[in-house]
Amino acid sequence: MPDGQSRRSQVVVDEALRSAPLFRELNDEAAAALRASMIEVHLDRGEVLFREGDDGDRVYVVTEGKIKLGRTAQDGRENLLALLGPGQMFGELSLFDPGPRSATATAVTETSLLALGHADLVPLLTGRPEVARGLLLQLASRLRTSNDTLADLVFSDVPGRVAKRLLDLSNRFGVPSDEGIRVSHDLTQEELAQLVGASRETVNKALADFVGRGWIRLEQRSVVLLDVERIRRRAR
Ligand code: CMP
Repeated sequence: MPDGQSRRSQVVVDEALRSAPLFRELNDEAAAALRASMIEVHLDRGEVLFREGDDGDRVYVVTEGKIKLGRTAQDGRENLLALLGPGQMFGELSLFDPGPRSATATAVTETSLLALGHADLVPLLTGRPEVARGLLLQLASRLRTSNDTLADLVFSDVPGRVAKRLLDLSNRFGVPSDEGIRVSHDLTQEELAQLVGASRETVNKALADFVGRGWIRLEQRSVVLLDVERIRRRAR
């Protein structure tokens, strides 16, 4: 008989799965059958799931924790494409556009995932158009986000981009508190800078400026948004 703690964490995992594009449109019976065909994977903080350039044969859904997707330039500099949390899926590009993995996936905290082989996904896509629609929706939304990120790199200054990233992280990982919104991103300052796409020094300067204005408070691997409205205005 599961105890209260593991029952609660089962509920959290189920909620994450039901919100994933693969599962969202399925009825309970079909979702249970799909869940049964997936393999659980657990990663420690810092563990690499796969590297850019590897052959890929699975998609993954995050059930608990966080995964960073990064790319490394020839000179060793790193850029983060995304930070994914519960309910988000990745690893499908190497199926739809056959080729090597387009990014390195690393756990930034203890993380659990469910994996589905590409070979098992294909019949699901052809047999269940609602699953294919869910995945198309995710791809379209990623393209939108990538377009926004590209425009921000060209048109916005670093503090504006930092403000945007903080809002984006707070939409996905924020928890309301008395003071504002606590965002446990689990990233180091270096990783936060890689997500913004700027040097650590410039990003730290922008964060220190926001702290000085009373908009945010920095904590170890988290940030508290104290004045969301001002941050929103700065992000525009
Ligand atoms: P794949 O290339 O198989 O492995 C890396 C995965 O990272 C890729 O599939 C996508 O699922 C995911 N990915 C790549 N680029 C982005 C992005 N810009 N935003 C979110 N996820 C991405």
